[in-house]
Amino acid sequence: MDLILGIETSCDECSASVVAYEPGTPDSAPRFEVRSLETFSQIDLHSPFGGVVPEVASRNHLETIHPMIERALHAAGAQMKDISAIAATNRPGLVGALLVGLSVAKTLAYLHKKPLVPVHHLEGHAASVFLTDGSAPALGYPLLLAILSGGHSNLHVAKAAPELWPADFLKRSLVGRSRDDAAGEAFDKTAKVLGFPYPGGAWIDRTAQGGNPDAFPLPKALPQKSTLDYSFSGLKTAAANLIRELERTGQLEPRLADVCASIQSAIVEALVAKIALATRIHGCRGVAIVGGVAANSYLRKRLAEVAARVPGGLAIRFPPMLYCTDNAAMIAAAGAFRYRQGQGLNGNALLKLNAYATAEA
Ligand code: KG4
Ligand code: ZN
Repeated sequence: MDLILGIETSCDECSASVVAYEPGTPDSAPRFEVRSLETFSQIDLHSPFGGVVPEVASRNHLETIHPMIERALHAAGAQMKDISAIAATNRPGLVGALLVGLSVAKTLAYLHKKPLVPVHHLEGHAASVFLTDGSAPALGYPLLLAILSGGHSNLHVAKAAPELWPADFLKRSLVGRSRDDAAGEAFDKTAKVLGFPYPGGAWIDRTAQGGNPDAFPLPKALPQKSTLDYSFSGLKTAAANLIRELERTGQLEPRLADVCASIQSAIVEALVAKIALATRIHGCRGVAIVGGVAANSYLRKRLAEVAARVPGGLAIRFPPMLYCTDNAAMIAAAGAFRYRQGQGLNGNALLKLNAYATAEA
């Protein structure tokens, strides 16, 4: 059993977690036990600005990262001597924010002579779906993995279990993506026009409850039927025009639930259509939906309906809500897989580690 300390500071969540990991076998899924997860969300600090202010994020991480790590170790009943490896996000994200978590991780690893695993944030989201105690049915492969974070809407096909993923897994497995805004950005930008606080996805989700998804027809973000790529910019513009027009005629307030349900439906139907198409094209035997947008209730409902119509059924798995949005448990899980592969860095190699804003080198 490996005990991994995970650290996440790529954007506006400062998070530390201790996770126990038992590798999977050809017949069984990997087993995880999240021994602790401590997260401080900076949302209230950034909300007045309508988005994340990078310098505010970095400075706040600097103040909260140490208490988060101490609390995570304490809540897990663990000390640094018990930890097998440290995993920290080093890309992509706000560089100033990443540097805080990575510097602390490097110092701890060097001082306590622990291997350090640099983790790609999107691989962290991917790993969140494996954060189970092994009692859930094993996921089938090929596995369609939809990574729906704030800045990415990527479709990947995993041919094997995460312990076998190559170093360039995210690049090699990519089969579809957004050509412009991600679904999360489409939610957040339209929510901003509606006057909701940042990040607006969850506000649209809540306000859409009871609304009619067909009330206002909006473009469905599908450039061509045959491609697995999306485009959300047309939808964003159409939604902004609709909102302004309803505001001008005094109809926005009384129709707010219908407006939110229509915007949400346009975004979700595009995601559902491409996920279903990718599953068919690549002969996937399972589907995993991860990232902040995976918390969307309408997406969960629509995908369950689609899965029920697939002859023989299709297993769709979402991580628990807690692991959808940014958290260090998923970083520890991704780090655990990479540590098993021998990718933990020691000594001078770990001291050379750096942080990067971009998803790709
Ligand atoms: O994965 P995440 O926590 O952070 C990034 O790595 O970017 O995703 C944040 C995104 C934001 O765009 C937020 O609006 C969206 O996830 N989100 C939602 C919901 N909860 C969070 N979008 C739609 N419905 C939700 N319930
Ligand atoms: Zn994220």
